[in-house]
Amino acid sequence: MDRIVVSGGGRLCGEVQVSGSKNATLALMAAALLAEGETVLRNVPRLRDVDAMLQLLAALGARAGWDESVPGTLRISGDGVDRPEAPYDLVRRMRASFMVLGPLVARFGRGRVSEPGGCAIGVRPVDQHVKGLEALGAKVELTHGYVEATSERLRGARVAFDVCTVNGTQNVMMAACLADGETVLENAAREPEVIELAAALGEMGARIEGAGTSRIEIEGVRRLRGVDHVVSGDRIEAGTLLAAGVATRGDVRLRGVDARVMEATIEKLRETGAEIEVDESGIRARAFDAPRGVDVVTAPYPGFATDMQSQLMAVLCVSAGSSVVTETVFENRFMHVPELLRLGADIGVTGRTAHVRGVPRLMGAPVMATDLRASAGLIVAALAAEGETEVSRVYHIDRGYERIEEKLRSLGARIRRVRESEGEA
Ligand code: EPZ
Repeated sequence: MDRIVVSGGGRLCGEVQVSGSKNATLALMAAALLAEGETVLRNVPRLRDVDAMLQLLAALGARAGWDESVPGTLRISGDGVDRPEAPYDLVRRMRASFMVLGPLVARFGRGRVSEPGGCAIGVRPVDQHVKGLEALGAKVELTHGYVEATSERLRGARVAFDVCTVNGTQNVMMAACLADGETVLENAAREPEVIELAAALGEMGARIEGAGTSRIEIEGVRRLRGVDHVVSGDRIEAGTLLAAGVATRGDVRLRGVDARVMEATIEKLRETGAEIEVDESGIRARAFDAPRGVDVVTAPYPGFATDMQSQLMAVLCVSAGSSVVTETVFENRFMHVPELLRLGADIGVTGRTAHVRGVPRLMGAPVMATDLRASAGLIVAALAAEGETEVSRVYHIDRGYERIEEKLRSLGARIRRVRESEGEA
């Protein structure tokens, strides 16, 4: 397994282009199954998760792949789907795969997708996805670890989600596009990825109102057609890079991301004392002294993103004060804490709350990545730490960050990837 080695303590300075949004891409890839003809997705990041979704689409019988003539471009057509079954070995690697169920049952009348099962950060059930599809008239059975949904023709319904779920909202919204009649989603997720998916579905011919609010209305149509869509910049990658700039008291400028979807992150970093400027050319973060300690509570959008929690915690580890970090979305999202302690951080965890007391400096040490965003937090901490940090199991980070070490090196970081083969003793 590859490792990333960071020689920390230097300031990050410079400008970098943010890649396309992983989470928007995964939902859009599922949506392509709904449309007749070819869907083209541009500005797509080359990530393990995107490749996993491509593998899944191909397993269904769809035509899906990179257009090697145009970097960052996927071409997908669901017309050839003849095996609407998503196998366990693919779904367990990438739970967003579950989002193909709505499109499959809506367009092909049947979908059979393995229960994703839990993951490192939590149980992550899919009961709300099932609730929504059943409300649309699908017959849903849970057998031998698979969720099978069948329906002659879905019909519009009112769906009130018990919890705010991003992929649940997306899954049911996609299915409702081809249902007969009107669907209303209450307590829908408001994330930018929901808005972007609804916009692309609209380009396909769907009739959706209210995306971005907690009430989304969908008027079903008979068919959708493929579109050519440019994926927006990744707000979590952008937030991670800003956090790295602040943690190292640097001066980082980002291009290719819309600051309007990052308000909670920007405001929280400003609260630490960082100077963050937003203009038409992008976002600039500068810090001159140790960050101030701040309190943060993660929440569904537009609250502070749970996907930014570990990266902010890394900043707070080198703050001049104390902070309280409360994780309300997932039940086990502090696995970066033991690794941060190895770097000399001072953190105490009680349930879903972490108390962080800033230390003057972190000291490099070998650490292990446990999940995608925890590993991002470790990289941010390593950049601020004195000395060398080796992060193992970086396949976690490759799931959601495209060429992270290249981007950071372009900002002056002393960081390199040790390939498994060359790294073996
Ligand atoms: C999406 O996951 C993102 N993934 C996650 O990003 C992100 O952390 C999460 O939203 C929250 O913002 C993708 O978009 C591919 P949820 P999702 O359903 O949709 C509970 C990353 O790092 N829940 O909004 O799966 C669930 O247990 C990833 O890029 C149910 O109870 O998350 C959790 O506590 C990690 N029943 C809460 O809702 C359900 O049926 C929010 O989860 C569904 C969810």
